[in-house]
Amino acid sequence: MRLVDLWRHTSFRLALGVALFVLATLMLAGGVGYGLMQSQVAVRQDARVTEIFAAIEETGELGDEADLIEAVESRIKASPGRATAYRLVAPNGGILASNIADAAIPDGWSTLPAARLAVAADHSYRVFSGRVARYSLTVGLSNAEQDVLQADVLGSFGWAALATLVAALAAGMALAARVQARMTVAEAAAARIAQGDLSARLPVTGKGDDLDRISGAMNAALERLASVVEASQEVSSNIAHDLRTPLNRLRIHLMEAAHKAASGGDPEDDLAAALAQGETIDQTFTALLRIAQIEAGARREKFASLDLAALVADVADVYADVAEDAGISLAWDTHGPVWVMGDRELLTQTCANLIENAIRHCPSGTTISCTVQAEGDHAVASVSDTGPGIPVAERDKVLRRLYRLEKSRTTEGTGLGLALVKAVADLHGAGLSLTDAAPGLRVTLRFARIHGVA
Ligand SMILES: Nc1ncnc2c1ncn2[C@@H]1O[C@H](COP(=O)(O)OP(=O)(O)OP(=O)(O)O)[C@@H](O)[C@H]1O
Ligand SMILES: [Mg+2]
Repeated sequence: MRLVDLWRHTSFRLALGVALFVLATLMLAGGVGYGLMQSQVAVRQDARVTEIFAAIEETGELGDEADLIEAVESRIKASPGRATAYRLVAPNGGILASNIADAAIPDGWSTLPAARLAVAADHSYRVFSGRVARYSLTVGLSNAEQDVLQADVLGSFGWAALATLVAALAAGMALAARVQARMTVAEAAAARIAQGDLSARLPVTGKGDDLDRISGAMNAALERLASVVEASQEVSSNIAHDLRTPLNRLRIHLMEAAHKAASGGDPEDDLAAALAQGETIDQTFTALLRIAQIEAGARREKFASLDLAALVADVADVYADVAEDAGISLAWDTHGPVWVMGDRELLTQTCANLIENAIRHCPSGTTISCTVQAEGDHAVASVSDTGPGIPVAERDKVLRRLYRLEKSRTTEGTGLGLALVKAVADLHGAGLSLTDAAPGLRVTLRFARIHGVA
């Protein structure tokens, strides 16, 4: 991985950012600690110089000049490496005892480089010059130890900083490489999706980290998209397939009419049949468009509170005569109002489709019963019959557009009635189930019930 590529990785930049922050904190804390240590060391060094100076001063006060010289010289002898520097100057300026150069040394405290004291060393000296009786005494202590300590501390800071940076760079690179490996797989999957392969999925490692969560959400969205695309592809191919039969019939009627007209016959019957076929095709398209419109949710703004029990009773009442003509008894059982939010026109159409189905697909002698009842927070409406019912394996399929049971192919209808019921149920957020009424079919719709509407 090149450095420029590496820089593009969020994880690498993050690791580097954290490292720089840690480094800055380290420097700040180290700097403060280093300052404190230095001032402590300086205080101690000054105390030692003061101590030596005071000891010599005491000798000077108690004895004569010879004692003073003796005291300084014995100390000079005890410091052959000139770790301690001394100079005793007589009132007339003559040097009485010294192990350093005859340079001008300022009175009081000073820090002087070794060269000023003519000592061949790199370190400095902490020096105090003052009066002892009539003499001038200089005492200096080498800072060699302190300088070494200082260099050691600075050195270890430097190494710690370098180690932190190297560790952060290594961690950043490792992290970036790991994330990159997952990203490469995800990019490949995204490229496949972009080329129209909706079966591709982003990798999920199962660690439950943020990348996993994003991949999971994207996969769920893809799953949904794939099923929608598949459903719409299936619907269009079904529609194309199912509309071929009525269009063929229309063509045959028209050809027949044209043939009769050409041979001097009467084409009226064939034209009437063609017209009826055209109307059926038109109704099919109208129903298909209506379902598509409901599925798009465009009608939701027409929702209002309504009494579902009264609505079902009204529709059943309208179909009572039709059912009776077919030798079917239609009963409805609704107790008091049951309120829901919904589109009155669509719910009326739904109820009509279910009752019509029971009349159309059941033999005479069948009983149809419609019920509406409140069950806790739900309003449950059902239409049951005692007819042949729908086999379990077909119950999902009959909800699709244009799907009809084999035995119903000869009866009138387009196979869109239950598809509309399903679309209306979905629009209302209602549960739809087709169950066995033993014998017969029961279609149940479970709505959310609303309370307190007069
Ligand atoms: N009550 C019922 N009893 C038995 N079979 C039924 C019943 N209701 C529906 N079916 C079966 O389900 C199929 C689909 O019903 P759907 O209402 O969607 O279409 P359809 O009634 O055939 O036509 P239309 O579009 O005119 O309603 C029917 O063709 C029929 O085979
Ligand atoms: Mg129907």
